[in-house]
Amino acid sequence: TTAPEVHRGLAGVVADTTRISTVIQETNSLTYRGYPVQDLAARRSFEEVAHLLWYGELPDPARLRDFRARERALRPLDRTTSELLARLPETCHPMDVLRTAVSLFGAEDPTEDDGSPAAHRAKSLTLLARLPTVVAADQRRRRGLAPIPPDPGLGYAENFFHMCFGSVPDPETVRCFEISLVLYAEHSFNASTFTARVVTSTLSDLYSAVTAAVGALKGPLHGGANEAVMHMLDEIGDPGRAEEWLDGALAAKRKIMGFGHRVYRHGDSRVPIMQDALDRLVARAADPGVTRKATLHAALREAMLNRKGIHPNLDYPAGLAYHLMGFDTPAFTPLFVMSRITGWTAHITEQLAHNALIRPLASYDGPRQRPVPAPE
Ligand code: CMC
Repeated sequence: TTAPEVHRGLAGVVADTTRISTVIQETNSLTYRGYPVQDLAARRSFEEVAHLLWYGELPDPARLRDFRARERALRPLDRTTSELLARLPETCHPMDVLRTAVSLFGAEDPTEDDGSPAAHRAKSLTLLARLPTVVAADQRRRRGLAPIPPDPGLGYAENFFHMCFGSVPDPETVRCFEISLVLYAEHSFNASTFTARVVTSTLSDLYSAVTAAVGALKGPLHGGANEAVMHMLDEIGDPGRAEEWLDGALAAKRKIMGFGHRVYRHGDSRVPIMQDALDRLVARAADPGVTRKATLHAALREAMLNRKGIHPNLDYPAGLAYHLMGFDTPAFTPLFVMSRITGWTAHITEQLAHNALIRPLASYDGPRQRPVPAPE
């Protein structure tokens, strides 16, 4: 018998159909429910995009009002949850706190999970509303500061800044953050989304699927890359060192964080709009320290294109943008979670709607069958 063909990393394998999003290779574009993501980022709020991903359509004004009101009401954490999360060691990664928080929400949720889209959407909205409260409180406790409760008078992005810093920055900065949320929201069968679908395919619950997805996103080959980008820029330090550093890193066979993509071979379609928003942040700051970081960022991008012909992915501009917005580097991947929770939960609902247990095969190349020796 010939060995079956193996697709390592499931590269090129089409595992199911989806109606949520797609990358159109010919035009190098990404669409959510048919709408180009760059147009959504330019014209629509993150809340509208969340509604689009979950319900299949953008909300009309009445629905949007209702959606926003429900999201705002669900933001506060109860005391027990806050206390439990505050007890986690500060030495653990913020993604560990977030993963634990999702698991805890699952244990505390008294509502039944009957697997219906309505039940799932209610749970998804709760997660969308509460995760920012967790992320903000965690960042503050690591800075030795007390949490700031959510403000129901503020939109999703504004409220998050308020909970993190006690103030809302200029509209341009808020807009840049919102653009990143729209761009990060959904990306078809990426590793964390596929993880959520695998867990869901066993008919497990939504919180278990999301907890697993947070774990998958944490890794530096996936969402952890936005954090890793900032560590890398800090390590290089000086724009003049970018080329030399890159040559050393490539010679040492290091993966350069924020570059390359499994699906996009000629550049990530989300990068131009994020880079544009980042450029506006940099210009606005008009600060020599910020300009230096932006120069280094651009120099490394050029060097990587020249040396390897590899383009940046979304994590490359998003990483620096989050730094300029004032977030702590280890909190970058949790910001990705706050957005991708929409895509994950849309896929969980879709998986359940036409479920098939995800259970691939492996080509065995271990020892041949052999007798178990008698114990010595
Ligand atoms: N740095 C150096 N070399 C790279 C990189 C990179 N970032 N990306 C790809 N390559 C090289 C790779 O070494 C390989 O070369 P060779 O053929 O000589 O062995 C070639 O390009 C093909 O790469 P691959 O590893 O087969 O590609 P993949 O589809 O398995 O990997 C990837 C995709 C994202 C894991 C990889 O590009 C990578 O590790 N990037 C750095 C981490 C990163 O930025 N991840 C974020 C991904 S996008 C958004 C997200 O999920 O957050």
